[in-house]
Parts: sequence; C-alpha cells; structure tokens
Amino acid sequence: MQLHGELLYGTGALASRLCVEAFNDASAERRTPRMTDPETTHGPSAHAKIDTSVPHSARIWNYWLGGKDNYPVDEEAGDAYTAVFPGIVTIARSSRAFLRRNITYLITEAGIRQFLDIGTGLPTANNTHEVAQQLAPEARIVYVDNDPMVLSHARALLYSSSEGATAYVDADVMDPDRILAAAAETLDFTRPTALILSNILGHVGDYKDARSIVTRLMDALPSGSYLSVNDGSRGIDPVFEQAQDAYNESGAAPYNLRTVDEITAYFDGLELIDPGVVSVPLWRPEADGPTPVVIGEHGGLARKP
Ligand SMILES: C[S@@+](CC[C@H](N)C(=O)[O-])C[C@H]1O[C@@H](n2cnc3c(N)ncnc32)[C@H](O)[C@@H]1O
Repeated sequence: MQLHGELLYGTGALASRLCVEAFNDASAERRTPRMTDPETTHGPSAHAKIDTSVPHSARIWNYWLGGKDNYPVDEEAGDAYTAVFPGIVTIARSSRAFLRRNITYLITEAGIRQFLDIGTGLPTANNTHEVAQQLAPEARIVYVDNDPMVLSHARALLYSSSEGATAYVDADVMDPDRILAAAAETLDFTRPTALILSNILGHVGDYKDARSIVTRLMDALPSGSYLSVNDGSRGIDPVFEQAQDAYNESGAAPYNLRTVDEITAYFDGLELIDPGVVSVPLWRPEADGPTPVVIGEHGGLARKP
C-alpha cells in the first residue's frame, strides 16, 4: 500500500486539514478513505515496517545532521563511519546548505513554485517546503522516500502554508512512473518544476539506471524546469572512499560514490547555472558563510531548455 498524504491549511493555522489517501498497489485503483487524523502517517502499519536491526540511510543521515530520529544501530554505524572519516558530518551539513541555496535561487531568481524532492530524508532544519514557502508561500512541494521511518515522520513535512501545498509519496526512486503519477495529484506538470535529487542517486546501484531515472523524470517536466543534484563524489578523498566502502559492506543499503564526471553527466542536455557542477560548498556560497573548501560532495543546478 502506498500512503500519500496532503495537508492543507484553511484560513488559519488551526483550520488545518490532513487528507491521507490510500492507494492499493494490487488494484492500482484509488481506495476511498480520506482520513482526517494526522496520526495515520504515524500509525502502527508504518512503525511495524521499521527495521531497527540494520542501519538505515535516512536515520544515519539524521544522526550526522544532529537529529534524534535514529536507533542505536544507526548511531553505531554512524560512529563507525566517523571514526574513519569524520568529514562525513561536514558533507551531510554542507549538502543541506547547498539544498537551501538551490531552493533560494529557484524561488528568487528562477521563479520556480513547484518542487519534486525525491529521497527526502527525515525532517530536519530547512526542509524544502520550509525554505520555499518562506520565500513564496504559494509553493507546492511533493516529497518522495521509500523508508518507513520517513513515512512515519511525514506529518512534519506536511505543514504547508495556506497558499501552497505539500504532499508525501511513499515510493521507490526506481519507479519514476509511479512517482510522477502520484506527484501529478499535487503538482501541475505543465508548469516548470524543480526536481531535487539530493544524496539519493548514490543509492541506485547501477549508474546507467541512475542516468535513465533522471532522464525519465526530466522528460516529464516542461521547458523551464530545473534539475538539482548533489551526491557523494569519488576521486576527492581516499579516506572518504575507504569509509564508504566499509559502510557498504556493513549490511546497510549501499551508497555508491560517483566521479565528478558521472555527476556532471546527470545534467546532459540541460543548461547548467553558474558555477556549474562543483563541490557543494563552492556553489554560490553566501558572503557571510564559512570559507568554502572542496569536499567529496558535488552538485549543480541546471535548467531544461
Ligand atoms: C542520504 S539521505 C538524503 C536525505 C536528503 N535528501 C538530504 O540530502 O539531506 C538518502 C535518502 O534517500 C532515501 N532512499 C534511499 N533509497 C531510496 C529509494 N530506492 N527510493 C526512495 N528513497 C530512497 C533514504 O530513505 C534517505 O531518506
């Protein structure tokens, strides 16, 4: 079953309404319930699927970001990683800062008002809809992730401004058609949309598959849409690669570092926004921010012509 939730505010903060729509995979037909209880996304069915015996990407990432939504197994895996490569914490935090600067650019300079954020992660500071709706309350955001823990926390991602909308889709990035169909209930794909793929493509084992997923998703978006990608990069820091290789053998879902050329190729056919694909701290750093240094995380933003 796929849970797809949308929270819409009425005229005031207390006039909120959560609509959770249940879809049945087997029939592919929409089922009827439209529940008003936000706890539905936190319900037993979501929790029952959470596996606390193996570390999960979203939860370890949350741990490195300083969050509390993780289990001892995630903490252990996170600590084992930082014992080899403490720089992963900087990579995680720099990624979030890159995402925030991307969204700010998309809203203020590109006029984008629709976002499809796949591989959302657990709610943290500066979630996509928070950054976007602070600048443009009418912005509409669809989040997608396949981790039951992220699903169970989806309510925090659904507090939309009254003018805009947010929705959460429980789906696998390997199934872009399903993602597009569900997202189309909230986003108007005749209008420019930003596709956000932040630290998710490394979870796609085969690079060719990752390329074709990006192509399929961008093909569904009109001219004037944008692609934002950032991912862990290979060829920058051998200690990072050593830590990642050990993590990949630990039983957690592997994450594949990609070369800068491979990350750059995700943007083939698109117009890269300056400064192109760079180590994320170097992407339009803020004047009052930390001095940017090269780390093993590269990303860029590009416009579909
Ligand atoms: C490293 S976290 C990145 C979170 C966030 N995008 C960020 O950059 O801060 C990777 C996220 O991708 C999700 N993920 C991993 N494999 C996935 C898949 N096959 N389909 C959908 N989401 C997936 C994980 O559950 C996790 O939330």
